[in-house]
Amino acid sequence: MAGERQQVGVKRLDELFAAEPDRLSRLSFEVAGLYFDWSKTHLDQRLIEGFIARAGDMGFAAARDALFSGETVNPSEGRAATHVAERGNGSPQDVDLALARRQRTRALVDAIEAGAFGPVTGILHIGIGGSLLGPALLVDALGRRRAKLNVQFLSNIDGAAFEEAVRPLDPVTTLVVVVSKTFTTAETLANMTSALDWLSTDGVADPHGRLIAVTAAPEAALDAGIDETRILQLGEGVGGRYSLWTSVGISAALAIGWDAFEELLEGAAEMDRHFRFAEADANFPLVAAFADRLYVEAFGAQSRAVFAYDERLRLLPFYLQQLEMESNGKSVRTNGEAADRPSAPVTWGGTGTDAQHAVFQLLHQGTVPVPVEFVTVAESEDSQDPERRRQLLLNAFAQGAALLQGRRSDDLQRSYPGDRASATILIERLDARSLGALIAFYEHRTFANAVLLGINPFDQFGVELGKELARTLNEGVNEGELDPSTRALMARAAL
Ligand code: F6P
Repeated sequence: MAGERQQVGVKRLDELFAAEPDRLSRLSFEVAGLYFDWSKTHLDQRLIEGFIARAGDMGFAAARDALFSGETVNPSEGRAATHVAERGNGSPQDVDLALARRQRTRALVDAIEAGAFGPVTGILHIGIGGSLLGPALLVDALGRRRAKLNVQFLSNIDGAAFEEAVRPLDPVTTLVVVVSKTFTTAETLANMTSALDWLSTDGVADPHGRLIAVTAAPEAALDAGIDETRILQLGEGVGGRYSLWTSVGISAALAIGWDAFEELLEGAAEMDRHFRFAEADANFPLVAAFADRLYVEAFGAQSRAVFAYDERLRLLPFYLQQLEMESNGKSVRTNGEAADRPSAPVTWGGTGTDAQHAVFQLLHQGTVPVPVEFVTVAESEDSQDPERRRQLLLNAFAQGAALLQGRRSDDLQRSYPGDRASATILIERLDARSLGALIAFYEHRTFANAVLLGINPFDQFGVELGKELARTLNEGVNEGELDPSTRALMARAAL
């Protein structure tokens, strides 16, 4: 891979800093209260110009216009992708529809807060993948001190997950929010059934009356016995992993308050405007996608790591895994041809400083390249401030500096090669607005990567085969149709 790196003429980071006195100012950006420092990546002016030319060849400007004007950008499913309209930045029709749906969600939030369901102390949010990861991130990041309710999230089909989720809740004062775009997802439907049993066993007279559904298939929710006044409709154009801005976010809106939810949308809208109108070399989600492509294509990186140096953002890596891997982990292009470049790397990560004591060995001295991203927050809201925050930030910045500098030693075991890439995001204050902008940044960066690759980030056919086989195994399958390994596992587990 070093060979490929040489072929595209990538210089060492120390050489780049020495050769480009304005490097920091050219590769750091301030958007919507977030500071992005990409100067410790190997991008230089020449590489950026090459990527801008490639973006032009791949029709980036037209693809972005199509996204914001509600055209079909998901041709395999014949759909637009309307998450930007949820933030007021789509076609007028899409924006109006999103607003009307938001008003319904707000009316339900207001009714709950006004006591229409009696006293409510808890929410059991049932969903999986995009129907849960976004709201869970919001509540964990913003609801710790301000949470008005005890919100528990339940996704797995594992009964242990169910038990753990309901343990802290009082069934008599809990509302169950079932989120499923399709309303066919096996895990979600099983958990909904268990939740109804849990409510009735504990003396709730009308368990269905405690259910709220969020779905693009309202008939299926009606069939499940949920009253239409408690069904919030999702637009078909909003993919699960892009949906936290919609009624999918109702549990978060209840936990953090409606005003904060609106601020989240405003923060995202500010990032939308930046992405939509900034010139290519100052368009930060696009430039970040250039660096992503550089590491995958020229360095042979097969993963990228994101470390949240803030406990409130500990769920961010999980959220990003779905966003990036489900969107861009594909091997066929939009035009049906095989992908001619490696697509999305594996997204993984953790929380700083914990990860420093567990996985950073490989990042500093391992043989596989892993671009690292530090997500930091200047201001904390914990009781140990300001000294703990100071230590936390110093640690994040020290790791970035160490990856860059390295340190030579005659003892090779103690030698650090350095010249390892990192990027840093510094959020001044973690609130709904900055979190909205941060998540929208990742969405647009994912879209920009897809355009550079020529793939459709909005479908996810790769998840279907496994689901189908699980159904087939459940229904009973002819022995001969299964491979010997799976047959033996089924027999051993007595399935
Ligand atoms: O199986 C993958 C997936 O379809 C995701 O794309 C989606 O976010 C998740 O499952 C949940 O789907 P649904 O909202 O339809 O229950």
